[in-house]
Amino acid sequence: MSRRTLVLAAAAGAALAAHRRAFPGYATSDLTGRTAVVTGAGSGIGRSLAVLLASRGAAVHVVDVDLARAQAVADQVGGTAHQVDVSDAAAVQALADAVFAAGPVDLLFNNAGIGHAGAVADTTLEDWQRLVAVNVMGVVHGVHAFLPRLLAQDRRSVIVNTASMAGLVPAAGMVPYATTKSAVVGMSEALDREVVGRGVRVHALCPGVIATDIIRTSTMRGDWADRQAGITGLYATRGTSPDVVARQALAAVAAGRNVIATPRYQVVPPWLVKRLSPSVGAALSSRLVNGMAGSTSS
Ligand SMILES: NC(=O)c1ccc[n+]([C@@H]2O[C@H](COP(=O)([O-])OP(=O)(O)OC[C@H]3O[C@@H](n4cnc5c(N)ncnc54)[C@H](O)[C@@H]3O)[C@@H](O)[C@H]2O)c1
Repeated sequence: MSRRTLVLAAAAGAALAAHRRAFPGYATSDLTGRTAVVTGAGSGIGRSLAVLLASRGAAVHVVDVDLARAQAVADQVGGTAHQVDVSDAAAVQALADAVFAAGPVDLLFNNAGIGHAGAVADTTLEDWQRLVAVNVMGVVHGVHAFLPRLLAQDRRSVIVNTASMAGLVPAAGMVPYATTKSAVVGMSEALDREVVGRGVRVHALCPGVIATDIIRTSTMRGDWADRQAGITGLYATRGTSPDVVARQALAAVAAGRNVIATPRYQVVPPWLVKRLSPSVGAALSSRLVNGMAGSTSS
């Protein structure tokens, strides 16, 4: 290694250490006295987050478009249920008003999202609009309604936006979904740079293949629709538990990691390959998706 490379590596290491000292992660092991808001908390990753946050002492606002689901989770964790469609800006604003009226907010998880798979040629404009409305604007609405008041509070706070591995490693057959999740990654990275010096940390949570309801309830178009039952089974049997995602998310928040790849063994290798060589990454991700589609076709 040349002397110049060593000097650059040392400078980068020193800059990273200084950044970590100046902007430490948010401690998540004991959340007694803290308040958390989780959207899409009636199922899957959001439910696991709500349960874990409550088990660590947080008061949890359980938000979902499906009130019965939200209420069931709220009852389980001793939290408060809210029926909110995150694609509705006024409803999210009303949620923030209600939550802040009860006191400060420490952790906001903009987690609600919907799935979609299928070729772009088979995708309707309404599919695109619904995906953007929930997966992108749902997060924007949460940030817009909560951030000014988080910044105005006299305490540190955290926003975790659920993106996806698809936002880091785009794949054929998931173009509209990857579009929305890439937007969430970019927004979360840029926003963290903007507000980190003002006491708010922003993270992009990027799960891989997780055993939740999302595939069963996804919109699937073209020949992907024929494989929906097979892919649903694949996620159920081979997917990682959402409880693992919740634990790793809180650990990464404590470590101050901006982009949270979880589980790391699924997400980090293809993400790293793509960053080192986008061409190799594209070749591998296409093989992966085609392999998955092939293994589930009837
Ligand atoms: N499961 C995976 O493999 C996976 C992988 C990467 C990213 N994600 C992301 O994780 C997040 C959670 O998904 P999940 O896998 O737990 O799915 P899930 O279907 O189990 O849970 C999603 C919850 O969000 C709610 N929801 C949907 N639209 C909503 C809306 N407009 N307003 C409020 N609530 C709404 C649903 O009612 C449901 O309770 C999503 O953003 C998803 O894109 C999931």
